[in-house]
Amino acid sequence: MDQQYIRNFSIIAHIDHGKSTLADRLLETTGALTDREKTEQFLDKMELERERGITIKAQAVRLNYRADDGHDYVLNLIDTPGHVDFTYEVSRSLTACEGALLVVDASQGVEAQTLANVYLAIDQNLEVFPVLNKIDLPSADAKAVKAEIEEIIGLDTADAVEASAKEGIGIHEILEAVIKKVPRPKGNPDAPLKALIFDSWYDSYQGVIVLVRIFDGCLKKGDKIQLMANKKSYEVLKVGVFTPHPVEMKELSAGEVGFLIAGIKVVQDAKVGDTLTHLHRPAETPLPGFKEVKPMVFSGLYPIDTGEYDSLRDALEKLRLNDSSFSFEPENSLALGFGFRCGFLGLLHMEIIQERLEREFGVDLITTAPTVVYNVTTVKGEHLRVESANKLPEVQFIERIDEPFILASIHVPNEFVGTVLALCEEKRGIQREIKYLTANRVMVVYELPLNEIVLDFYDRLKSITRGYASFDYEHLDYRESALVRLNVLINGDLVDALSLIVHRDKAQYRGRDLVSKMKEFIPRQQFEVAIQAAIGGKVIARETVKALRKDVTAKCYGGDITRKRKLLEKQKEGKKRMKQVGNVELPQEAFLAILKVK
Ligand code: GTP
Repeated sequence: MDQQYIRNFSIIAHIDHGKSTLADRLLETTGALTDREKTEQFLDKMELERERGITIKAQAVRLNYRADDGHDYVLNLIDTPGHVDFTYEVSRSLTACEGALLVVDASQGVEAQTLANVYLAIDQNLEVFPVLNKIDLPSADAKAVKAEIEEIIGLDTADAVEASAKEGIGIHEILEAVIKKVPRPKGNPDAPLKALIFDSWYDSYQGVIVLVRIFDGCLKKGDKIQLMANKKSYEVLKVGVFTPHPVEMKELSAGEVGFLIAGIKVVQDAKVGDTLTHLHRPAETPLPGFKEVKPMVFSGLYPIDTGEYDSLRDALEKLRLNDSSFSFEPENSLALGFGFRCGFLGLLHMEIIQERLEREFGVDLITTAPTVVYNVTTVKGEHLRVESANKLPEVQFIERIDEPFILASIHVPNEFVGTVLALCEEKRGIQREIKYLTANRVMVVYELPLNEIVLDFYDRLKSITRGYASFDYEHLDYRESALVRLNVLINGDLVDALSLIVHRDKAQYRGRDLVSKMKEFIPRQQFEVAIQAAIGGKVIARETVKALRKDVTAKCYGGDITRKRKLLEKQKEGKKRMKQVGNVELPQEAFLAILKVK
């Protein structure tokens, strides 16, 4: 189709500023939604929609719009995930676009967390233009928010649309702005095929569904295609677009966005960022920017009830079907029994998966402290990848340990710079740059060990800046560090799941902090419980939980046997979330205490 009449764009917005409401309005105005669908937020549905046997993930919706100039346009609205762990996916989705709407709540103003994505869009040379939403609110102050957008981001707001997605104000203006401001695609339809994969997911009827943006060439049913990163080839069974309903098309040509189905069995084969080309007339070079995303953070997941091991494995397998960046393998812990070592992109990704396991699959979990991947060289010259503290060899066998470093960019208002610097220094950071973006906004750039970030960096950053800091990072390299394994002993028994890898200089302090935090969470038992922190054979900290005999039936004044039974049942229930270590019962909180250690 004629690229002159195609516009590809996405919406960037802070949470709650109205992205979904606006997207729904755009769908409604362009006639994409039926009356029934208007009652629900179409783009915001977590439950995946089934229709004609295809799972819809409304990640790219094609809208037909007749503009004021009398021409019919195709507008592709491409959705982006919104968090630092998924920066790579966001950057690929943005690459599929030529422009982006920046939606800002006119009663709230610019929020720090939006900035990372705005800069990502600007870096990709997208045309970004502001929309002030919620102008119907009495507290809306469009003028002040425009000034803020100019000052903080440096975008011209002279033509910014003032809108209310809720009341349907400014929607026409937004559509016209998309036509006028977003540049048309400029691919060559006759060149060899170059299509960017910007999303893929697994569908139980159709196999993997791949979302693509065609840059050059043309893609048809029956074409033999090849994925340029892994060289695998397939035959195209279907191409089409989401309107948001799946509609099969004859072809997708340069500038267009749509889906394809090609008998791909696993999402791991259709990686986001890869370039798709024809097998027999391939493009010479792939589109730039492909990265193999690897899990960077690992943690052990154990069923609280050992009988749930199989259902946990099934649940993990189901999650992996749709998430190529998530990995797991069986792991065995002395303290926790059989479980899995899982790999995640980052901390948020980890939280999402844990939450889904508990909520959607109903598995109660014990989670061990997250760790990163260390490169360990033994005295015999072997190289090991260690992603769990209890796999670290004893100190006498280690020649050196290298740990991953990241480059962190933190955007923060002026008043918090001092506290942010102090936090970065505390976390073994190396300062690279402090730059004033505007009179009041500062960008702080630090090299930091990822090990320090996975524990509590992000939460601390948020709390010391009252939520105003935005944080983004990229991986740098591995560096040699003086790291040691810190063990926890409960009444002399090593709790392998509680071991940590820490910097030597911090081991003493961390050990002390850890045992005192754990003491708060371990209930008194019928005997004394000693909690010790040790490096190798050397105990560096100790706390004691005093003995107590808890007689729950004492309240029963003798008599009623059923009441007595009930109380004992209750006590059993409470014990379900406990794990037996030696003869001591530890609650889940004790395992999480490790996360709260500074
Ligand atoms: P996430 O889906 O959480 O990322 O949020 P979002 O940015 O998609 O925001 P959403 O569209 O869910 O809107 C957030 C809230 O703001 C909802 O309660 C909407 O009804 C409300 N809202 C959206 N647009 C407007 C508007 O123009 N005016 C008013 N008053 N409220 C609005």
